[in-house]
Amino acid sequence: MYLQKRNRILRTSASIRSMVAETKLTPDDFILPLFVDEGENVKHEIPSMPGYYRYSLDLLLEEVSTIRGLGIKSVLLFVKAKDDTKDNTGKEAWNEDGLMQRAIKAIKQQIPEMIVMTDVALDPYSIYGHDGIVKDGEILNDETVEALVKMSVSHAAAGADFVAPSDMMDGRIGAIRKALEENNFTKVGIMSYSAKYASCFYGPFRDALDSAPGFGDKKTYQMNYANRIEAINETLQDIEQGADIVMVKPAMAYLDIIREVKNAVTVPVSAYHVSGEYAMIKAAAKMGWLDEQKAILESLTSIKRAGADLIATYFAKEAAGMLR
Ligand code: PBG
Repeated sequence: MYLQKRNRILRTSASIRSMVAETKLTPDDFILPLFVDEGENVKHEIPSMPGYYRYSLDLLLEEVSTIRGLGIKSVLLFVKAKDDTKDNTGKEAWNEDGLMQRAIKAIKQQIPEMIVMTDVALDPYSIYGHDGIVKDGEILNDETVEALVKMSVSHAAAGADFVAPSDMMDGRIGAIRKALEENNFTKVGIMSYSAKYASCFYGPFRDALDSAPGFGDKKTYQMNYANRIEAINETLQDIEQGADIVMVKPAMAYLDIIREVKNAVTVPVSAYHVSGEYAMIKAAAKMGWLDEQKAILESLTSIKRAGADLIATYFAKEAAGMLR
């Protein structure tokens, strides 16, 4: 048989395949989410996220040193607020001595080169488990944005490098940017969860932080997963309002959105490989139905190939270990 072109030539050996690979993962791509708890010597495994833990500050610092050693450059912090600090205003969120503020300070003091990003939303602090202030069964927008502004300024004051609003209220990016400017936090970035969908894949995360909504769902603020153009609209508005990095969330079921956002913007794009996506791989691997390591690398490479410059993933540590 005569063939003018044999495509398999470039797949002949591992060396050739690696030489012509279009997408290469590196630990620089990863943002590691971390769950912080009160107390000492706490390493609590999250039942629906096997191999993933909530740490008290002492153990958190050890974990951050370990992952720094693996080449991971940034962490995204979430806290499990104590029940007695929760209310409908979310005021614990800007307590300067709150768990989040203490965690930021501790990490920046011990490992200053670690990029600290912080989740900005009221759900861990809300008695209703909603991302905003509730009135008559509704999530109020403008009152919530005022709270998110205080929360963001308080994270910046504690030393956060990036605040990451995950609440999907309207106008919050502009309001946060303005407040950061007014308070002279001119080096603090905003990573906006711009296209965040109302997704069942957040289930395990809500177990981790005990933050599931007490009534209803999040569909009046998070996006309908049937929509595509709306994601571009949300993202462009966030950039106009001052977002430095934009995010699509979840990742694996939204690769088309990641690509469209990537093509539409000129800022870095991140994608959040969420808790349910972690749990699916862990569960299948535990049953012996999938090779965990291969599933991790294939998933993360696909997310990057789709257009993500950064990937927030619970697999960051394992992936960085494999990439060494
Ligand atoms: C809170 C928040 C959530 C996640 C990140 N920030 C949960 C939610 O919106 O209900 C989900 C992360 C994950 O599932 O890994 N606003």
